[in-house]
Parts: sequence; structure tokens; C-alpha cells
Amino acid sequence: MRHVPGDLLKGGHLVGGRWVGAAGGGAAEVANPATDEVLATVPWGGGEDARRAVDAAAAALPEWRARTAAERAEPLRRLASLMLERREDLALLMTLEQGKPLAEARGEVAYAASFVDWAAEEGKRLYGELVPSSHRDKRILVLRQPLGVTAAITPWNFPAAMITRKLGPALAAGCAMVVKPAPQTPLSALAVGALAEEAGIPPGVVNVVCGDAEAIGDALLADPRVRKLSFTGSTEVGRILMAKAARNLTRLSLELGGHAPFLVFDDADVDAAVAGLLASKYRNMGQTCVCPNRILVQGGVYEAFVDRLAGAVAALKVGPGWEEGVRIGPLVDDEAVAKVERHVRDAVSKGARLRAGGERVRPGAGLADRFFAPTVLEDFTPDMELSHEETFGPVSPVRRFETEEEALELANDSPYGLASYFYTRDAARLIRVAEALEYGIVGANDGAPSTAQAPFGGVKHSGFGREGGRYVMDEYVNVKYVSWGGL
Ligand code: SIN
Repeated sequence: MRHVPGDLLKGGHLVGGRWVGAAGGGAAEVANPATDEVLATVPWGGGEDARRAVDAAAAALPEWRARTAAERAEPLRRLASLMLERREDLALLMTLEQGKPLAEARGEVAYAASFVDWAAEEGKRLYGELVPSSHRDKRILVLRQPLGVTAAITPWNFPAAMITRKLGPALAAGCAMVVKPAPQTPLSALAVGALAEEAGIPPGVVNVVCGDAEAIGDALLADPRVRKLSFTGSTEVGRILMAKAARNLTRLSLELGGHAPFLVFDDADVDAAVAGLLASKYRNMGQTCVCPNRILVQGGVYEAFVDRLAGAVAALKVGPGWEEGVRIGPLVDDEAVAKVERHVRDAVSKGARLRAGGERVRPGAGLADRFFAPTVLEDFTPDMELSHEETFGPVSPVRRFETEEEALELANDSPYGLASYFYTRDAARLIRVAEALEYGIVGANDGAPSTAQAPFGGVKHSGFGREGGRYVMDEYVNVKYVSWGGL
């Protein structure tokens, strides 16, 4: 197998343009979830590391903020290009530390670069307004100005894209950022930091610190210089961060858990629906916030849909992500596999019927015990854990419905509101159902709605704030007005 080139394999925090150890001297190993092989050692920092990174960001801010949007766009576009030029290396690094199949990792690198590229251009459209006043001698001038120092706490499931969808717009708006990546996947984050340096983004505008989430998060939220924290992760942690953010009234974007419904109506193209579900549910081994967790299929196409789905799922190749043709890699850690196993056992013990998978598998010698066969379960019911808790694994629970009204009631019966999906060929139903679904994202005949051009984000317990589209820029600016009198 190829090796990741040393210039992308960083073993230090990136603070103020320098690669440094943790303030307290701590270090942590990063291991390949498919084999347990240690890939690298990174610093394990805490509050002091976060404060130093904020110092560096605050020092870099004035010069960066003073640039024109076009001057900021130039190194940002270079960063996006470098990510694409180094796509193979970044993808291999991602597969090795996170487990996703190489083809998906390549896709994520392109997805990650697209957020930087998109934001670089959107930064040029941070228009103000001249608003007519009710007084003849006045005008109202509205300005959108960068927030200042910002922070991002990012998850392991998309080790590069969840950083750049925050970092790109923050920088394009004129903010500096401190990034705290997940402990499972710091290497991809540090590699993005290394490319940001190479792209010519000034030292201190991008900082990356790894380590204790609570200590770093607390330090970031205790520091009044940090004007915004963008977090992607669980609803549970989102609530804690929100309570702590109250102290300095730190602005938040929270992209939290989901429990997506996936509806298939009698008038759907069943093959397209199966393909959409495969793309959405089994992407990243089901470890996404947007993947379907409740598959609801109307009676007329139920048997055809489940038969085709079970056949297609049983054919998905399981193995280490770097092996040709693999669609299902290892889950990220032991806790993740244990949760999937618990959900499947609980469902089966309460009457669900297994149509594919259902257990751990060992796809080769020398591999870790973290591979779970892609699974299809029929007849899930509300008393099963997987009916209301995110499984975060390759499991499709399916059940039947009879009417559109029943489907919508079941689909909206969740405290979460991130993504939802449905398949129909009826144009009137398409609009009706899209409007009735209480979710921030609706895939209508589309299992892959995520893109840099769209405003990604949730409602209810899935959080608030939007990432992508033109909307994301508002997350990183203050709106100020100047009441201009004496005209
Ligand atoms: C997520 O699962 O958190 C993000 C998925 C996406 O961007 O499509």
C-alpha cells in the first residue's frame, strides 16, 4: 500500500503558523480502525492550548479582516486547488484514520474543497444596503462585518469536510479560526492546516488544536475574544455547549443529531428509491447525521422494495477501505460497533425480522473486530431503540404504511429535524410532502442532497444555523447599521 507523504502527516498543533507540542506535554496515538495499527502521535492539549490558539487568531485577525474579499479569496481558492491536487494523499490518510472506503474518501476531499471554493466567491457578495429612511435628511447604511475570532469543534465522520464547511466561510468573511478536531481523526485536520499554510493563508488565521474536548471547549467559550463557535456533533453535547455559551453570549451554529425518515410511495420509481437508500444509508457505513434511520414504504410497493433492497445490501463488499471494491469499511471504534450490535439485538428481540446482515464480520486475517455486515430489518416498531435513537451504523429498519397522512405522521414523530427523504412520481404529492416534512433538509427523489451550494442544517433537536449556500455567510458576520443624518 502507498504511504501518506510526510508533509501531510503532522505531529504538532498548528498555532500562529508554527507546529508545536501540547502546553502540558501530552500526546495521543492515532490508530487505524481497520487494523489497530498506530499511524501517528499527536499532541493532546487542553485549555492552555486553546488560549494560545486564540491569542494567535486574535493577533492575525486585524490584517486578515482588513483585506478585500478578493484578496482573501485568492489564498482560499489556492487551498481548494491544493486539496484537489493532493486528493489521493488526503483520501488515503482519511481512509487510514477513519475507515471509510477510499472512493468515498476521494469524494469527501472534493466535497471539502468545494466548501472553500464556494465560500471564497460568496465572500465577495457580502453586500450591505442603503435603506430609505422615514426622515428626508437621513439614510440608513447597513454593513455586514466579520465577527472576529471564531472556533469550530468538528466530528470524526467527515474529517475534512466538516472543517472546511466552517473554515471556508469564516475566513472568506474576514474571521480567523481555531479548529478542534475529533480525537479519532486529528490527522486529516492537521493536513488541511498544513495545506492552508502552503496556500498562503497568513499564520494565525487558521489554528488547529487537538485534545480534551471539554477542556478546550470550556476555554474557547470562556474567552470573550471568541465570538462564535460552530459545532457538529451530538445533540447531548450541543446542549452542554449552548449552556456554556450563555456566559459570554458566544454565537453558535449547532449541527446536531438526526433521525431521518425515508418514505417510498406507491407511485415511486422503486429502483431509484433503492439506489437512493443505498447511497444515503450505507455512505460512511451509516455514520452520518443525515442518513435514513426509519424507512417507511407504502403497501403497494413494499415487497418489491424490500426484496430489491435486501439483495443489493447483501452484495455490498465489506473490508478495509483501501481494498478495491469495498463499500463497507470498519466502524470508527469499539463503542460504535457495540451500539449497532445493541440496536440490532434489541430490535430482533422485539420482533424485527432480519433480511440481510445483522452481525459483526471478519473480512480478512489481521483485521480488527469492527466490521458490521450491512443490515436490513423488517417490521421495526416504536418500542425498539433504533426507532428513536440514531444507530450510526449500516442498518436499515423498514416498515409498511398505507396512507400519505400516516406516513407524514410517522415521519414527523421525532424530536430531530435534520434530513428527510421521499420518493414519488406525483408532482402534487412532491410539493405537499416536501412542505409537510418538519426537517431542515428534504431529499425529494434524491438520496444525496448535500452540496456546498445548499443551506445544510436542521430544526428542532437537530440544532440551528446553516452551512453552505449563500446563507452560511450570515453565520460569520455582524449586521451593523449607520444612521446617516444631516443630508
Ligand atoms: C453529517 O453527517 O454530519 C454531514 C453529512 C453531509 O454533509 O452530507
